[in-house]
Amino acid sequence: MNKRSQFFSQQVVQWYLDHGRHDLPWRKKVTPYRIWISEIMLQQTQVKTVVPYFKNFIKKFPSQKRLAGASEDQVLAAWSGLGFYRRARNIFATKEIIKNNYGNKFPNQFQQIIELPGIGKSTAGAIMSLAYLDPHPILDGNVKRVISRFLKKELDLLKEAELWKLSQEMLSRDDCFSYTQGIMDLGATICTPSNPSCDECPVNSECLSAFKVRSIKKNKTVSAKKVIVMNLSLIQTEKSLLLVKNETDSIWRNLWLPFDSGSIKNYIKNFKLTTKEKIKHELTHRRLEINLKTYSSLKEQEIETNQTYKWIKKDRIEEYGLPKPISKVIKEL
Ligand code: ADE
Repeated sequence: MNKRSQFFSQQVVQWYLDHGRHDLPWRKKVTPYRIWISEIMLQQTQVKTVVPYFKNFIKKFPSQKRLAGASEDQVLAAWSGLGFYRRARNIFATKEIIKNNYGNKFPNQFQQIIELPGIGKSTAGAIMSLAYLDPHPILDGNVKRVISRFLKKELDLLKEAELWKLSQEMLSRDDCFSYTQGIMDLGATICTPSNPSCDECPVNSECLSAFKVRSIKKNKTVSAKKVIVMNLSLIQTEKSLLLVKNETDSIWRNLWLPFDSGSIKNYIKNFKLTTKEKIKHELTHRRLEINLKTYSSLKEQEIETNQTYKWIKKDRIEEYGLPKPISKVIKEL
């Protein structure tokens, strides 16, 4: 390892020990199971959003063994509102593999871990370093930015393989836990995409971009998101809600939604229209416009359909996986 890499890793470790976010729940009571769940949640979601979901998930499923008996619906319910639900379906698939092939013990070999659904090279590396203290590189957006700035290499010109090589060279073999958590914290809190706080950075004396990063973010042209329109009918009795499991291969697969208005039109005359609203909801790549009609019904009517539907008691709605805009409406009913 060359001197600069050594300086970098030592500084990052020391900075983490002194200034890292040690109170994050997955950094305490470290187990492979807790690291796995947190790393999956953190793949596409910011730390501050993840914290309450992680705590809630761990409360419901405190260990690999306790997750073993969960249904996919229960895992989705615990994920409700966090978005990118494929991650929850992958957690379900993974825990089935761990139950069937590994006796409910999270595997400890990189090659076994990377085979699991939803786990790529970086997440597998993070699990090895954080849960097993076996140094492996990671490479997410934060790490790419920190390393490429430190070495003043144009990120756009670096190939993925070169970045992996650099990440491998820079990492600390002495304390890979603090290093891995530290470089992620550094990227998230100091070496931010715009206006980095170079004056607080532990590697500023050797960083080839220190104090030179443009502080004003260029105005990126944002491409228009694709708009998806949904027409939904939410039917309720005094105590229950009629929801249908979305088994189509679209967004929100296997979550519970109000009926598509078209598919329930033969029944609509039996219900009384109470409200109409348009809900706008932004996803990362899509804009949703949900035209939601709410109806009341005197009884839990049976519906003739090949879709999976249920009259769900309102006080048990927490047990089902619902997308955020829908659970928000239901809370306000
Ligand atoms: N992003 C991905 N993994 C993380 C972690 N362990 N801590 C903070 N941010 C992260």
